[in-house]
Amino acid sequence: MVLEDADNDVTGERHKPSNSNELMLDSLEDIGPTTKGFLEQAGFKSIKDLIVRGPADVSEATGMQIEKSVYLCNKARSRLEEIGIIEKSFTKATALYEKRKNEERISTGSKNLDDLFGGGIETRAITEIYGEYGTGKTQLCHTLCVLVNLEKPKGGLKSGALYIDTENTFRPERIVSIAQARNLDPDRILDNILVAKAYNSAHQELIIEQTGPVIDANNIKLIVVDSAVAHYRAEFLGRATLSERQQKLNKFMHLLLRISETYGVAVLATNQIQSSPDSIFGDALRPIGGHVVAHTSTYRVYLKRSGKNRIARMVDSPYHPEREVLFTLAESGVEDPV
Ligand SMILES: Nc1ncnc2c1ncn2[C@@H]1O[C@H](COP(=O)(O)OP(=O)(O)O)[C@@H](O)[C@H]1O
Ligand SMILES: [Mg+2]
Repeated sequence: MVLEDADNDVTGERHKPSNSNELMLDSLEDIGPTTKGFLEQAGFKSIKDLIVRGPADVSEATGMQIEKSVYLCNKARSRLEEIGIIEKSFTKATALYEKRKNEERISTGSKNLDDLFGGGIETRAITEIYGEYGTGKTQLCHTLCVLVNLEKPKGGLKSGALYIDTENTFRPERIVSIAQARNLDPDRILDNILVAKAYNSAHQELIIEQTGPVIDANNIKLIVVDSAVAHYRAEFLGRATLSERQQKLNKFMHLLLRISETYGVAVLATNQIQSSPDSIFGDALRPIGGHVVAHTSTYRVYLKRSGKNRIARMVDSPYHPEREVLFTLAESGVEDPV
């Protein structure tokens, strides 16, 4: 799955795929032609994919012995540490601080909301947006898909987006209207957005397992999962299936987290809120997926209505204070209130 138009950039510049030789499977000397063949057949294209999927999955997908897959995954990890794609096991805080200062961010379209995040949605992290129906979660997803295309000084990363749509709410027309309202070329932006419709939770997991190579081939810096939890909620009903649901959701969220860290992409996951107390699980106004999604997300933002505007509250962040800002929804997507 490679976007065809070589010139597919709002600014007219070509996107470069980021897969280099040192990340190819056979760049690890322990991967010979036979092993490489098995791995490729199972959809592994880069050594980053070994890290994302982990030893148990690698073994299951390829039929390789678990000892060998643990060994290969460790080798892959060392290589990525050497290149600086993932952190070394023991890293000085100074180095981490430097790296964090350079973390790439994507503008949300609203300065207020960007400020809440410390300058936009962060790469190498999962940002969870939760709120009731109609609070603007899907609008925010669409706006970010447009803005990620922009040049860095304008709030983007000159990159494309992958939209995993589980509720059938992705609308290309909305991408066009947001782009037009912002004087951007809608055709080029549409060309830089890949949409994967997930029909059930198993399909959603399959899509995310196959995502690594797609990210590299299409220069993707933003993955939207709208919504992360809807299928799980619909398929696993009642207390009896609660632990199975949480286990599966946990696996899905961890896969997302490893992808965001290994591929350096921003992940935006939406989560509906239970607006009535008639639910079997937990309290009213509690995000579905409960602690599983909450614990995997790096940042969590709660959206609610405030007349014509919306309030966003940073609920959980390793370093932001709990704070609220106002934004609004307009033809151009997410905006500051006028
Ligand atoms: N073109 C538009 N211009 C202004 N507001 C819009 C536009 N399209 C949708 N909206 C607003 O977005 C809201 C729906 O938000 P949405 O993101 O779909 O909610 P959620 O995903 O949280 O359920 C609607 O209330 C509507 O007012
Ligand atoms: Mg929605």
